[in-house]
Amino acid sequence: MPMLTPEFFDEAWKDSMPKDGMQHTKETWNNLAKNWRIDSKEILEQKDKIREDLVNFLVENKILKEGDFVADIGCGMGEYSRAFAKVADSVLATDISTIMLGYARGLSESAGIKNIEFQENDFLAVDNSITEWFNRFNLVFTSLTPAMSGLESVKRVSSMSKEWCFNNSFIYRDDSIRNILMTEVFDKPVNKNWGNSSPICLFNILWTLGYFPKMEYYKEEIHSEHELSEAFAKNCAENIIRDRVPSKMEIKMVYDYLETIAIDGKITRNTESLYAWTYWNVNDKRDL
Ligand SMILES: C[S@@+](CC[C@H](N)C(=O)[O-])C[C@H]1O[C@@H](n2cnc3c(N)ncnc32)[C@H](O)[C@@H]1O
Repeated sequence: MPMLTPEFFDEAWKDSMPKDGMQHTKETWNNLAKNWRIDSKEILEQKDKIREDLVNFLVENKILKEGDFVADIGCGMGEYSRAFAKVADSVLATDISTIMLGYARGLSESAGIKNIEFQENDFLAVDNSITEWFNRFNLVFTSLTPAMSGLESVKRVSSMSKEWCFNNSFIYRDDSIRNILMTEVFDKPVNKNWGNSSPICLFNILWTLGYFPKMEYYKEEIHSEHELSEAFAKNCAENIIRDRVPSKMEIKMVYDYLETIAIDGKITRNTESLYAWTYWNVNDKRDL
């Protein structure tokens, strides 16, 4: 029986990450960001719904409150940051990708929001000696970001908070188009376990550090229709080939396959995702 230490669950987390060769660098995320806004109307509406449900959950449970100072790490296009800014006093939104931050900044400016500060940095490389973040925020929020990927990240977000930390991660994601392209075009086995074991490892790291984490589950089912286009084919290829930019030939293979299943130029897609919402209060900690 191994010792159930934070380090043990850190290893388990890293072992369970998809072996797709994806390097979570600034360059990778800038490349992905270029094609980020391709989602269909139904998916955008559903993403708005999960965000609304999540923010309501935070407010109802007094995890997000008026007057708060919130950090949104790996903020992407900043949808959560903008929602937090309506409730909180101010928000620090950080991301590794210049392009993602550019979208986030632009969308916040056009919405007339003035209480978000944007900072570009790699959270995994941020020097531990950055004392200006220590014990400063009422809520440190991470959602679907590789910035939260192990013991060091957990310690860092916890040290930044004077109250709450929150993480949103996939438990699984089942995407009918990704599945069929995996088998029919790329001859690879289907892997629905997109989210690896991060929620269970996160929970156990927190537990073995002495915190009392809580967890909620959120299920999302989307039925969507997509125009057959090169941009959509590229987006599908990027969902599968994660260690580099897909070649023109690979995008064409995806396009050609999608063309065979399109009806009146449209592709139907069904996705089912289960998310874990893990949250902990840094003041609620037992001595070990
Ligand atoms: C899938 S998006 C999630 C965006 C947003 N948090 C959400 O839930 O909608 C992942 C984001 O994490 C950012 N990211 C990846 N690695 C990071 C790191 N080491 N430090 C900071 N941000 C990172 C990416 O640039 C990207 O914007």
